[in-house]
Amino acid sequence: MVATGAASSFSIGGRAYPITDHTFDVVVVGAGGAGLRAVVGCAKAGLSVACVTKVFPTRSHTVAAQGGVAAALGNMGPDDWKWHMYDTVKGSDWLGDQDAIEYLCRNAPQAVYELEHWGVPFSRTSEGKIYQRPFGGMTTDFGKGPPAQRTCAAADRTGHAMLHTMYGQALKHETKFFIEYFAIDLIMDAAGACRGVVCLKLDDGTIHRFRAGLTVLATGGYGRAYLSATSAHTCTGDGGGMVLRAGLPLQDMEFVQFHPTGIYGAGCLITEGARGEGGYLTNSEGERFMERYAPSVKDLAPRDMVSRAITMEVREGRGVGKKKDHAFLHLEHLDPAILAERLPGISESARVFAGVDVTRQPIPILPTVHYNMGGIPTNYHGEVLRKIDGDPDAVVPGLMAIGEAACVSVHGANRLGSNSLIDLVVFGRAAGQRAAELVKPGATQPELPADSAQLSLSRLDRFLHANGDTGAATLRDRMQRTMQSHCAVYRTGEVLDEGVSGINDVWRAGVNIKISDRSLIWNSDLIETLEYDNLIVQAVVTMESAANRKESRGAHAREDFPARDDANWMKHTLATIDGEKKSTAIDYRPVHSYTMTNEVAYIEPKARVY
Ligand code: FUM
Repeated sequence: MVATGAASSFSIGGRAYPITDHTFDVVVVGAGGAGLRAVVGCAKAGLSVACVTKVFPTRSHTVAAQGGVAAALGNMGPDDWKWHMYDTVKGSDWLGDQDAIEYLCRNAPQAVYELEHWGVPFSRTSEGKIYQRPFGGMTTDFGKGPPAQRTCAAADRTGHAMLHTMYGQALKHETKFFIEYFAIDLIMDAAGACRGVVCLKLDDGTIHRFRAGLTVLATGGYGRAYLSATSAHTCTGDGGGMVLRAGLPLQDMEFVQFHPTGIYGAGCLITEGARGEGGYLTNSEGERFMERYAPSVKDLAPRDMVSRAITMEVREGRGVGKKKDHAFLHLEHLDPAILAERLPGISESARVFAGVDVTRQPIPILPTVHYNMGGIPTNYHGEVLRKIDGDPDAVVPGLMAIGEAACVSVHGANRLGSNSLIDLVVFGRAAGQRAAELVKPGATQPELPADSAQLSLSRLDRFLHANGDTGAATLRDRMQRTMQSHCAVYRTGEVLDEGVSGINDVWRAGVNIKISDRSLIWNSDLIETLEYDNLIVQAVVTMESAANRKESRGAHAREDFPARDDANWMKHTLATIDGEKKSTAIDYRPVHSYTMTNEVAYIEPKARVY
């Protein structure tokens, strides 16, 4: 069903907000890789689908993904999706749900071939097959063999190639794009089902209410809760913020991935593909220190381990540079023709942001926030989960989440590089398939609850008239600095407790927020405030969840609890907030210790060494 353009009005404090109403079978919020893949699936199934996005689709953050998309195609040597599954379970430090990981790895090759057929310009082998490079933690023969060449690449601009191709596919099908619309809040009914979303159209300040049989959140991560991140400034976790305000939990938020090779000072990404092509790291003594930390895979160890190794080298006085506070990534030994063909993007980034010619000089690098393993809990169909009456996997009717916004959980405590792009397309596709099962094209939808715009518009109105003493930029800076210093690569109880108190202070300071621009048209002050409001609640639950988890696992490295503790902590954290009281509550869900089919056995936990 598509009905668009009906109008009504909502009044708050004497101010009228005219509302334009739209009805679709499905509304997808976000137009990155996951959102676009879901949109195509829904449209192909004959569902009417709206895609609401705050940026133009090809500016979504997927465009910045560099090194590639993982799938066991076996183009460069033997490979098997079961080896990919083993690596992903081990990479997750046994916090990933193995049924979901099986779904991901089993479906990955088909998802990549589909992209190829749609026209993604993958790099090619001399035989014309898709080129695949090694990436961290990807091995052969259940970890016993040499590194796998599993990461399918379009030079070092794979995300760009995928996003543009998928946008073309979405346009080819019946999709209605609502571009530069900011999603304010979900519409939840009294029975706890999601019935749509309320949005602000950025260029004219009009309010749009989308009623849908299914709302799919594909809003990306919240990397901008930190000061230094490879994430775009638009990565403000808008879906996670909406979910928390709807009283639903976020899962495993303590697991924040630091990419080992952000450019020192600038924070921009230098792809792990650089090490996949033969690059290596050194300290101030010129030592290839990864040989000590991961003797078998060395520079191709998973990201959590490489980030910790760099941090340790710096701490122990072996950092490079005047302040001895970073490390070097060397590519100058590689053939310049290979660099130009396979790594042109990062060669340019190194020149622009570090003043380095990669054919002659090493790149100064430092671990930088890159990815959120945590997010909105879902099953492998993309359906959002919450715990009801002891059922930890109860589905929230009408609501789905996919991509980095979601926690399926396939990445567990640490994501392997190139498993993000494959997560986007596999679960974007799964969401489209599930939508086709759940929603009948054109089905009549019940009327929305009378107060369906209340939460969104009262919040919008409160911010629009906020007349306190501190602007969003100041609060955002305080939040980012607190996260960067108190929830970093290494953590201790003392520092995390200080972080909990600091980040809650920042959250509470929001009651005195100030906005200077009272217009609704292109009001960047208002939008940055709404984005900050999404970020701060996720920063709070990240810090609280990290302080609560008293073990080390994957990216959560506690110096006071250095060991993994499966007996007490092999469980997902669920965090909810009370926005009025400004408090957080923590609960748990069991990790799925079963696979999806009998074709593979549950992979028993063991020490994670490389
Ligand atoms: O290093 C990279 O190219 C990033 C890939 C990823 O995060 O999956």
